[in-house]
Amino acid sequence: MRQVVGKTTFDLDAAAFAALRAGHAGLVLDLGTGDGKHVLTEARRRPDTLVVGLDAGPDAMRRAAARATVRPDRGGVPNALFVWASVERLPAELTGVTEVHSLMPWGSLLRALVTPERAVLAAVAAACQPGAPFLLTLNLHAWRPPVPEVGGTSEPTPSSVEGSLAFAYRRAGWTVESAGYLDDAQIADLGTSWTKRLGSTRSSLSVLALRGRIG
Ligand SMILES: C[S@@+](CC[C@H](N)C(=O)[O-])C[C@H]1O[C@@H](n2cnc3c(N)ncnc32)[C@H](O)[C@@H]1O
Repeated sequence: MRQVVGKTTFDLDAAAFAALRAGHAGLVLDLGTGDGKHVLTEARRRPDTLVVGLDAGPDAMRRAAARATVRPDRGGVPNALFVWASVERLPAELTGVTEVHSLMPWGSLLRALVTPERAVLAAVAAACQPGAPFLLTLNLHAWRPPVPEVGGTSEPTPSSVEGSLAFAYRRAGWTVESAGYLDDAQIADLGTSWTKRLGSTRSSLSVLALRGRIG
């Protein structure tokens, strides 16, 4: 898989990844990591866990990826890893995932998660250990007005998720256990840089969090 470190990308082969994974108790996978702020936040919170940020574009994550590799006493985060790949083509080496996050997904990632695309959900499930928790936070402004990627779906609500979306997720091996709106403090706690973009001008009912387990 392609690892991003600052301006460079490296090939991280299966053996190197397996060795890195073996040195950590868990593996959090952040799908559509963007600038990687959430990865650095989670990795600092859980030093025994490998936190992998994956994105279809390498550029936004370069700064966080560079910061992660400096010496820990100078602010480096050795348990953060940044990977350039799309969710539709997950690297086969990426196994042993114990938790999945996707914050404010957009583009084809959003489409895969909300229409939903069973093959994508199933591929993520295949990378996970059984029972891995997931957290998806949906920016509901994708439906106000709807962007093409939401594919004619209605804006999800806690009750609509518990019906049709949860049913479709279950068929791909994902069990939705809760769906609820996040308040501003909960959004800030995620460590997503989208907090600022949502926070000042938009209502607090603009982010819906889905939680559950995979497998
Ligand atoms: C709105 S940004 C959110 C970034 C970050 N999660 C955050 O909360 O700050 C959505 C991200 O999803 C990524 N993305 C879109 N489609 C993707 C796909 N198919 N696979 C992986 N990443 C994708 C985009 O490149 C972008 O960085």
